[in-house]
Amino acid sequence: MIYRIAPSLLSADFARLGEEVRAVIAAGADFVHFDVMDNHYVPNLTVGPLVCAAVKPYATVPIDVHLMVSPVDTLVNGFAEAGATYISFHPEATRHVDRTIALIRDCGCRPGLALNPGAPLSPLDWVIDRLDLVLLMSVNPGFGGQSFIPYTLEKLRDARQRVDAAQQRAGREILLEVDGGVKADNIAAIAEAGADTFVAGSAIFSGNNYSETIGALRQALKDVR
Ligand code: DX5
Ligand code: ZN
Repeated sequence: MIYRIAPSLLSADFARLGEEVRAVIAAGADFVHFDVMDNHYVPNLTVGPLVCAAVKPYATVPIDVHLMVSPVDTLVNGFAEAGATYISFHPEATRHVDRTIALIRDCGCRPGLALNPGAPLSPLDWVIDRLDLVLLMSVNPGFGGQSFIPYTLEKLRDARQRVDAAQQRAGREILLEVDGGVKADNIAAIAEAGADTFVAGSAIFSGNNYSETIGALRQALKDVR
């Protein structure tokens, strides 16, 4: 299993975003997770394609854009042009899930579907073969620094089976990402439940030694069976 760490810029110093991106990549980040909130789909407001384009020159790893916005389609092209690699969205935030996935793919990006803690996995029934990423939220979207919701572990086990089956059918990699409340003391249990990609915001950016924190996350992953 290849594990990937995706620091969420939501907890970074926004006045020094480029430097933060450079520092976290130097510390071993595999992706940069870019949280987009619109004060409509979620009760918080962050950044858009302009800021994504501004950090792109610093991002020598893929940018993993997580759209917490509604509607979705009108923003897809802007993020594609801003240099996103992955673009994930929440199914209930768009009218036509399949169409939005196709739009992301047509723009040259990799589509991901993000599912809230209380949301069923059933949107995956039909569209998982078209995805490159499944993002399970382990907190309610909108804010960094919340606690991991434990029942996500059970959901991850179910999602893992679906992702494995879809990877076999599709013959390509589909990532299973978990987002919210990931720390060094729970990442092993989250990986054991089936996640391969880990978003961590406050865990990484609240400390001042990013290499040490990412190192601790990776160290914890070494114990995973
Ligand atoms: C929450 C965001 C997450 C968040 C994770 O809506 O999608 O990416 O920043 O932050 P932590 O790791 O602090 O829970
Ligand atoms: Zn996120």
